[in-house]
Amino acid sequence: MRQSSLVVVANRLPLDDNVAPDGACEWRRSPGGLAGALHAILEQTPATWVGWDGSIGEARRLPDIGTLRLRPVALTDDELRGYYEGFANSTLWPLYHDAVEQPVFDRGWWETYRSVNRRFAEAAAEVAEPGATVWIQDYHLQLVPQLLRELRPDVMIGFFLHVPFPPPELFMQLPRRVELLRGMLGADLVGFQRPQAAHNVAQLAAKLLDVHGADDAIHLDGRIVRTGAFPVSIDVAEMRSLSARPYVLNQARQVRHDLGSHKRMLLSVDRLDYTKGIEHRLTAYSELLRDGKVKVRDTVMVQVAVPSRERVENYRGLRDRIEREVGRINGEYGRVGEPAIHYLNQPFDRADLAALYQAADVMVVTPLRDGMNLVAKEFVAARRDNSGALVLSEFAGAAAELGDAFLVNPHDVDGLKETLLQALAATPRDLATRMKSMRGYLTTHDIHAWARAYLTELEPAHSLFR
Ligand code: ADP
Ligand code: G6P
Repeated sequence: MRQSSLVVVANRLPLDDNVAPDGACEWRRSPGGLAGALHAILEQTPATWVGWDGSIGEARRLPDIGTLRLRPVALTDDELRGYYEGFANSTLWPLYHDAVEQPVFDRGWWETYRSVNRRFAEAAAEVAEPGATVWIQDYHLQLVPQLLRELRPDVMIGFFLHVPFPPPELFMQLPRRVELLRGMLGADLVGFQRPQAAHNVAQLAAKLLDVHGADDAIHLDGRIVRTGAFPVSIDVAEMRSLSARPYVLNQARQVRHDLGSHKRMLLSVDRLDYTKGIEHRLTAYSELLRDGKVKVRDTVMVQVAVPSRERVENYRGLRDRIEREVGRINGEYGRVGEPAIHYLNQPFDRADLAALYQAADVMVVTPLRDGMNLVAKEFVAARRDNSGALVLSEFAGAAAELGDAFLVNPHDVDGLKETLLQALAATPRDLATRMKSMRGYLTTHDIHAWARAYLTELEPAHSLFR
């Protein structure tokens, strides 16, 4: 077994099911912030990525992608249900997102979550060279830090949570709260998107483990576990260069032409997820149409909602509700050849996404709760001419960094309507001032800065940044 000095462990490998008949495999980014963020760093770094390849049953052999080795972890159908669809995405995901949907506590899922976490820890232990750095990602694998420490005390262990860490009163609802907290604190450094998360963990450590916890360090079992905020970002250079490509510029013009050149375009791009606030946004837009504040003649909305976690009950229900609502709004307010909303339930490649970002007048990003929201950052990075407005939820991690957006509380539909109108009416000068400042910020806070900040905090002499 070949070993690496840097091992990334994440539930999902950064590619989809498509392996060509000759076995060649393409680096095909799965939609979702985590794969996008890590893709940029790892494509030119000797490392191994341990993860699930999206299929059921035996793991396939996957060829290297450039310098990156892939170590697939197999899941059976039962494991997929108990670990991924169950404990990760029906218990932890809703609970960590303010319980915007009711978390499901099913006692049968826990054992599967634990045994799959053990399998990931064993795979990581196998591919990590002596003294390696192992960087574990996200809520699917919260027990891996401690399990790996038991197997390989010689390695340096990092854990990064891409989603919010909930307030103590919500975390306390979890039947397995002590194991989950201890599991995560098996790492040497636990990173979050926001400082509040580290504060929440310190309080929980004091309460549940009876140990001293500060916002940047927790003393546990004779070790010090460091904690802190490292807001994740995007590959700014990639988005900038994409958005300068002639194909993208033409495509953006074509989109505007197809929608009606005189119309103002509102755009939203999400995984089809109940945390993204899609229904609140549709309500606000439909009420603006009802009140005559916007008209189908002069304004149009494009909602891209890429299918996600479709075997999970809550996601199927959400898709049905959204499709019904889009149909209702188009039925009520659309005209022949002029729908009020264009709804696109499909994946897009990066260039086509960049074209949509360039085409929009107002980008509407209104999650009810979101660890970061990389779409907001991608939109800003794509606006080379400093035009365009970003309407951004206060409950997205990105709001702490993109304070020049039109910030909004998406639960307050009247406030959301008001903010949409403000963004539509803003002067080019105001928009340019805001956009310039957000773009300036992103230049120095890109994905490479994130990885550098995290890995040098984990291990000051890390070879990636020596
Ligand atoms: P999350 O991680 O919850 O999905 P983010 O906004 O942080 O939310 O990240 C979403 C990522 O998925 C972004 O990089 C975005 O470009 C990508 N994405 C969103 N919609 C699509 C789509 N329809 N096709 C391809 N990629 C998409
Ligand atoms: C979020 C999570 C990631 C996850 C992604 C896509 O970004 O933080 O861990 O990979 O959503 O979700 P999926 O269930 O398709 O992997």
